[in-house]
Amino acid sequence: MATPQSTIDAAMPMFNPSLISPEVLKELPEGYNIRPLQRGDYTKGFLDVLKGLTTVGEVSEEKWNERCEWMWRHNDSYFIICVEDAQSRIVGTGTLVVERKFIHELGMVGHIEDIAVSTDQRGKKLGLRIIQSLDYVAEQVGCYKSILDCSQTNEGFYVKCGFKRAGIEMAHYF
Ligand code: ACO
Repeated sequence: MATPQSTIDAAMPMFNPSLISPEVLKELPEGYNIRPLQRGDYTKGFLDVLKGLTTVGEVSEEKWNERCEWMWRHNDSYFIICVEDAQSRIVGTGTLVVERKFIHELGMVGHIEDIAVSTDQRGKKLGLRIIQSLDYVAEQVGCYKSILDCSQTNEGFYVKCGFKRAGIEMAHYF
């Protein structure tokens, strides 16, 4: 079957790779890399990593491409990163969504979302490197803070990443 068409090259980074912190790259295990999402990551295990976080459901390549088209057009607000191991398999990911406000003199806030590391790769500080990378992007694009929601079981992880508890999450599901 033919691959569903897209206007985005499979290897084109979602955003400028210069936004990946050189300091964080130096701290990765030998052979590992952190880079912006690429459309071609559909076949490199990206969705499998997210399955370790929550339900992903059936995402056809056509629907994936459609979502990429939208995200690449909004790549001053959506920043998705991938951790690759030495075999170029995706073993971690994280998202930064940049919100533009009127308050705080047109302030910008970074929302950290969808952090996941493959089960067989946990405990190697990859989660920490993902958070540090997203924080770097947030600072570089001009956010005055980054925030996130997490379960109590993950609070310790985010404390290790330098976050502190601030308020409570409220949700309204539709
Ligand atoms: N509770 C307390 N401490 C933790 C936890 C935890 N759940 N997880 C890791 N840590 C500690 C580590 O021991 C390490 O401490 P150290 O510096 O003293 O050695 C430090 O935090 C950094 O840990 P990493 O090795 O970087 O963490 P890892 O790569 O294993 O990734 C993660 C952690 C992302 C939570 C991983 O376990 C995972 O993918 N879990 C499933 C998905 C998930 O829950 N994601 C977070 C959802 S919340 C969100 O997306 C905003």
